[in-house]
Parts: sequence; C-alpha cells; structure tokens
Amino acid sequence: MKLISLNINGLPVEVEEGTTLLEAARAYGVNIPTLCHDDGLSSYGACRLCVVEIGPPGKSKMVSSCTYRCEDGLEVRTHSAKIMKTRAMMLELLVSSSPQSKTIQDLASAHGMTKQRFRPEHEDCILCGLCVRMCAEQMMSSAIGFVGRGPNRRITTAFDEVSEVCRRCGGCMYICPVCTSRCHGPDEEATLCNACLNFSPSCVAVYDDVQCWMPPECGTCVRPEGDYLPATGRLATEES
Ligand code: FES
Repeated sequence: MKLISLNINGLPVEVEEGTTLLEAARAYGVNIPTLCHDDGLSSYGACRLCVVEIGPPGKSKMVSSCTYRCEDGLEVRTHSAKIMKTRAMMLELLVSSSPQSKTIQDLASAHGMTKQRFRPEHEDCILCGLCVRMCAEQMMSSAIGFVGRGPNRRITTAFDEVSEVCRRCGGCMYICPVCTSRCHGPDEEATLCNACLNFSPSCVAVYDDVQCWMPPECGTCVRPEGDYLPATGRLATEES
C-alpha cells in the first residue's frame, strides 16, 4: 500500500493512495460540508459545496474534495476566504432553488446566511443524483436515471413510464435532501413547514411504503380517524 503525503491547512498528513481530499480531511478532523456526497455511495461532484483550494497561493485552483484524489506534496486549503465565499454563494443558490429543504436551510444557517437575495424557485430536484446512486448502488435496481441536458436535465424512469424494476423501497426518498418526493408540506409556496423532519423520530425514520406516517399535525395528508402515538406517528390500534 502506497502512502501519499500532503498538507491540509498547514498540517502535514499521510493517507493511502486513492483517498479523496474529503476523506483525508475528515480523517484528520477537518470538517468540509457536503450535500451530494454519502459515504455509502460513489462520489458524483454535483453540488460543489465541498470545494477546496489546492496549490500554492496565487496559482491555486478550486476542486471538489469528494471527487479529487490526494496527490504527493499537494497543498490544500479547506477554509480560505475564497473557499468560504464560494460555499456561501453555492448555498445561497441552493436555498433559492429549494427553500423548503431543511438540509439546505441548516447548511446555509451554519454558514452564516441570514437572508435570501435570490427569488425562491421551489425546485423539486437539485440534480444532486443521490437518489440515482442510491437506487443503483444500494438497492441494485437502477429504476431511475438522468435524462436531458442543461435546463432540461431531470431524473426519471426509463421512457417516463412506471418502472418494472422499482420495488418501492423508498431509498430514493430517504436520501433526497430536498424531500419533495416525500412531502410538499401544507403550503409549499408560503412558509416552510418541515414538521415532518422536526418530529422525533423524523418521518424518514418511520417511512413506510411510500406513505409517511407522521401525526396529522403536518396537515398534508388525509389520515384515518384514530389516536396517533406521538413517538411513532402510527395509529394506536396498529401498535397493539
Ligand atoms: S459533496 Fe462534493 S460536490 Fe457535492
């Protein structure tokens, strides 16, 4: 096994050949934000939130750390002023694209974003590709994929028809950071609800066969009559 020596934020580090900059940084306790990355899936490099600066000052370039492999002697800066400004801009664009996403809201808030300059678009999809990779790599289905280019790019099933290989496992919804496949909230054009994500356990945790089972406070779904258990959101009669 070959070891690679590089420098992250002035700290000399050593990692195995093939390690990405993101993995190396995390192994040494440096936190780099990500959105389209998941440890259980291949990297795709869609959101650019994990950008870092490589090379000496003045001759540096920005690369996505989740896809870039470590190189001997590389100088890496993960939180330079240039990087922080770039990430803040990416987050502003993401918030405007999908203001309903709690994941994106939290990332934006953690980066000091307090107001939104761009018009909210309420996009259903940010094309991060997590659902496509989840379906192919973890669920072994490949029921969905990208089609089209540029502004027409979108995710769908083959020929836009109901997929015969989809097992309705819900993996795509589970991993989607904008959550719109799962629940649009009571009024998606106005204030954000996100009640489903703020419950404990979240609707993701109790997800059941393409139907969320949160208590009826969310207001989105028509629910059967009965008493809902606060811990699980299920009808009391179902638990007995
Ligand atoms: S996390 Fe690296 S590009 Fe999205």
